[in-house]
Amino acid sequence: MPATVVVGAQWGDEGKGKIVDLLAQKSDLVCRYQGGPNAGHTIVADGETWKLRQLPSGVVSGTTSVIGAGCVVDPEVFLGEIDMLVERGVDPSCVVLSGNAHLIMPWHVTIDQASERRLGKLQIGTTRRGIGPAYADKASRIGIRVQDVLDAKILRQKIEVALAEKNVWLERVYETEGFELEEIWSHYAGYAERLAPFVGDTSLLVDEALRDGKHVLFEGAQATMLDLDHGTYPFVTSSNPIASGAATGIGIGPTRIDRVLGVAKAYVTRVGEGPFPSEIQDERQTRLRELGGEYGTVTGRERRCGWLDLVALRYAVRVNGITSLAVTKLDVLSDFDELPVCVRYRLPDGSETPHFPAHQSDFHHARPVWETLAGWAEPLTDAASLSDLPAAARKYVEFIAHELEVPIELVGVGAERDRVLA
Ligand code: GDP
Ligand code: IMO
Ligand code: MG
Repeated sequence: MPATVVVGAQWGDEGKGKIVDLLAQKSDLVCRYQGGPNAGHTIVADGETWKLRQLPSGVVSGTTSVIGAGCVVDPEVFLGEIDMLVERGVDPSCVVLSGNAHLIMPWHVTIDQASERRLGKLQIGTTRRGIGPAYADKASRIGIRVQDVLDAKILRQKIEVALAEKNVWLERVYETEGFELEEIWSHYAGYAERLAPFVGDTSLLVDEALRDGKHVLFEGAQATMLDLDHGTYPFVTSSNPIASGAATGIGIGPTRIDRVLGVAKAYVTRVGEGPFPSEIQDERQTRLRELGGEYGTVTGRERRCGWLDLVALRYAVRVNGITSLAVTKLDVLSDFDELPVCVRYRLPDGSETPHFPAHQSDFHHARPVWETLAGWAEPLTDAASLSDLPAAARKYVEFIAHELEVPIELVGVGAERDRVLA
């Protein structure tokens, strides 16, 4: 099965980076199809920890790593991570960047921050990295793309057009300082020389790899419930992490995708604002956060923690066409006597549903219906195969597969690359 999408099935931070890094060992190409430096993927391999925001997780193993047209790129973060590769002995020529990807400009970051401040209590809780404003400009057709940097004249013109509008907004609406054309132009034109060697025709590259029968991984950032169209709007990111986003974001047909591997934690976390039905309401939330090290990679914020939500996961199976699941961080649950799992939502009218509500008010007021499974209260550190797991841990995994009617292909029992049971 040469073309596999790896997609976050919850609200992000499921351990996609770790799973992609593992599968990259046997892949020819790893492609990021959306998002930007709002992602934070931590990978632990051979005792070394990698934290990636902009580059695909394939770089850790030196696998050819594509950043597709559907991504937004902060050149400073991109080049910073390229420098990190060099420092750590990875040849950065494995990275190929689409000329059609959009650039995050300094005003995007300023607007993201100012707009969150203005929203006050209604804020989204974004990563404040300029993601939403960059995608908004792309849709408004005043965005600046990677290929624009390669031509100083075009770049100047595009910055001039953008600033004519942005500076009015910044000064009059957000009451903050605007940007100087000449300053931004010379700063961004200065990136041309360093970016140029990485720019390539990524759609063609992936097409040719698939034609040659190579193994291609498509790596989603963020996750299903943060999808702009199918997530918990407005508490979402501004792109399409769901599996079909791989086709649009890379520039291949949807018929080229062979399988979709959903990545789900054995519990749930969420960073930022927005409804979260299975959020833990007692001291066990703090316990789970500490046990799982649930702090944001990008912002360092505390991740909100909840019990496994099968209603949201069932929805993820549907909207992504998930063909199998990787369940991560099962080891983190070892400390609990019993494990509540949300199997249905109770809606405001008193009815119960196994399906994710289509109407926002139903979702905002949904209450979890729990089924309590037995815990195992023993560490999973020595398990080398699924059969080594304590019976209750195996039952927990089987319960998920049974409820979702999807096979579970991988089970994560530790942060290290090899702590995955197949
Ligand atoms: P991503 O954004 O989906 O790539 O996930 P993050 O990297 O933001 O967060 C997942 C965290 O859990 C990282 O610190 C990983 O090293 C860690 N991790 C991944 N899988 C496992 C696992 O099975 N067990 C444990 N204990 N940690 C894991
Ligand atoms: P990875 O790839 C978890 C959340 C933010 C906020 C919302 C919008 O590591 O799973 P944005 O900056 O994208 O406009 O913020 O989305 N968010 C993430 N949460 N993991 C991520 O990425 C996220 N990227 C964005 O916290 O609620
Ligand atoms: Mg993350």
